Parts: sequence; C-alpha cells; structure tokens
Amino acid sequence: MRSRICELLNIEYPVIQGGMAWVANANLSANVSEAGGIGFIGAANAPAEWVREQIHIARQITDKPIGVNIMLLSDYADDIAKVVIEEKVDAVTTGAGNPAKYMKAWKEAGIKVIPVVASVALAKIMERAGADAVVAEGMESGGHIGELTTMALVPQVVSAVNIPVIAAGGIADGRGMAAAFMLGAEGVQMGTAFIVAKESTVSREYKERVIKAKDIDSTITGSSLGHPIRSLRNTMTREYQRLEKEGVEFETLERMTLGSLRRAVVEGDVKNGTVMAGQISGLVNEERTCKEIITEVVSEAEDVIRKRAEEWLRR
Ligand SMILES: Cc1cc2nc3c(=O)[nH]c(=O)nc-3n(C[C@H](O)[C@H](O)[C@H](O)COP(=O)(O)O)c2cc1C
Repeated sequence: MRSRICELLNIEYPVIQGGMAWVANANLSANVSEAGGIGFIGAANAPAEWVREQIHIARQITDKPIGVNIMLLSDYADDIAKVVIEEKVDAVTTGAGNPAKYMKAWKEAGIKVIPVVASVALAKIMERAGADAVVAEGMESGGHIGELTTMALVPQVVSAVNIPVIAAGGIADGRGMAAAFMLGAEGVQMGTAFIVAKESTVSREYKERVIKAKDIDSTITGSSLGHPIRSLRNTMTREYQRLEKEGVEFETLERMTLGSLRRAVVEGDVKNGTVMAGQISGLVNEERTCKEIITEVVSEAEDVIRKRAEEWLRR
C-alpha cells in the first residue's frame, strides 16, 4: 500500500492516527509512529508548553517521524505554531480553519503541512496555499464534523487537487482502507480505531463504551449552533438534543459541554461526559496494540484488493 504519503512523511505504512483532543497524547502518537504509521499529538486547547512537553515525551519513545494536530481556533495556536518549528516536528495537521498565515514559516522549517478539510473548496484553497497533502474527513468521523460522507467527499477532493489525499471517517479495517484507495486516497487517517489501542491512556470506561458500541450508537449534537459533533449516545447527548430542540440559548448549551470530553476521557464519566467516537465504533471490538492495528489494517487491505482482482480476472 506504499504511496506518495509514505514518501512525503518518510513512513512505512500510509496510516495516520488523527489528532484527538485529550486522547492523542505522546504515548499513543509515538507508539503509532514507532509501529510504522504516523501519530499526531492533539494540541486542541492545550497550552503550547504542554505540547512541547508531549513532543519531548514522544521523542523518548520513538525516533520516527511525529506530528502535531493544531486546532486553529485555540487561543494558543500562534504559540503552538512556533513550538512545532522550535521542536522540529515532522508534520502538522490543522483543523477548524485556514493555516495560510503559518504556512511560509512551517515550510521553511521543513514541516509537512496537512490541513483537514471537509469540502472541495477548502481543499483547493489549501493546495494553493502550499499544503503538502490534505485529509478529506467525512461526517462518519468522531468529533467535529462536516456535512459530506467520506464516500462522496474523497473522490471529489481527489479530482480537484493534485496533492495526495488522505481519507478519514469510518475507516477501521482493511476493507475501509482498500475502499479509500479505490476512491483515489493515498493514505487513511483513523481516530476511533486508535481510541481503544492498548497504548491509549483514555479511561477504561471510555474504551469499553467504544468497544461495546453498535452501528447506530453515535449521534450528532450542536448542529443547530453550526458546530456539529459526533459522539456516542448517553445522558449528556439526550439532554443536549432536548435543549437544542427547545431552542435554548447558545451559552447554556456551551456550559453543558465545557470540559465534557475531559470528563469522559480522564474521569471515565461516560454518562454525563462527551464520548466522541465515529460511526465505525460498531466495528471496533477489541483492544490491540498500535502495531497490530496498523499491520492488520494494511495486510487486510492488500488481501481484499488482491482477492477481488483475482476473482474478476478469473471471470
Ligand atoms: C475523541 C476524538 C477527538 C478528536 N479530536 C480532534 C481534534 O482535536 N482535531 C482534529 O483535527 N480532529 C479530531 N478528531 C478527528 C480525528 O482526528 C479523525 O479525523 C477522525 O476520528 C477519523 O474518523 P473515525 O473516527 O471514523 O476514525 C477527533 C476524533 C475523536 C474520535
């Protein structure tokens, strides 16, 4: 499954662990990199010095390429943009906006820049701004989402840009990876599948919820505010959706979700916290090491493609 993404990032397998607020710390990300993919530390709303510390921890675990995911709406985005240069990280993915103002400095520092996009228009803008690749993320994903599905978004982005495209959203096994490559993607980014990795330090309760989740267990909150988030159904999502329907004001809803991801990830409160996870949770049924997740996804993808090709050629 080698592709331009492997060359670009100097990695063995085109498998990326998506930046995940509170979930993707140094331990998870470095172990993904050590296993031959590339892990992105989720900077989310954390201060720049936390990010620097995580980079240092990651470097003690692996000498392979590592990345940082920067949420551009963060109050600390400017500082984190500098930290990734000072610490010479290999790659940056960005979410929630346009990283154009950092692009020149990052490129001069040799950092590969990979914005996450949910539309063709943004993918084109990013290519023009100098992005090395884009992650096309469908609304099957856990966390903040756009409107298009991976199936519809990926081929349209692939047709619109010349830089390599990484598919994200709803991929957790080799069949998903093979399908993404058939759509023209040259890499896959997974989030939900890595939440339950053995090296993931999320609470036991969070892991168990994802492992036990069925196909229809995720839901979307925040659409009425223009910030849709996918997470697993619980007391929190039900109450949130009830208030959303009643048209309760923005501030009340915001207050409800303040710190709610942390409550689920760190404290294990999966009833009143936000258990961000994607539609593919129903397929994520066991805890495996990062190495097992990556090598099994890649070898299954290769098998699926080879077997299908052989079947068709025999006809
Ligand atoms: C718990 C969780 C937190 C996430 N946080 C972020 C984030 O901070 N920044 C970001 O760009 N994407 C974030 N994402 C999206 C992932 O990076 C990834 O693109 C997505 O999970 C892929 O879809 P999947 O969940 O179907 O594998 C998050 C996803 C999850 C499940």
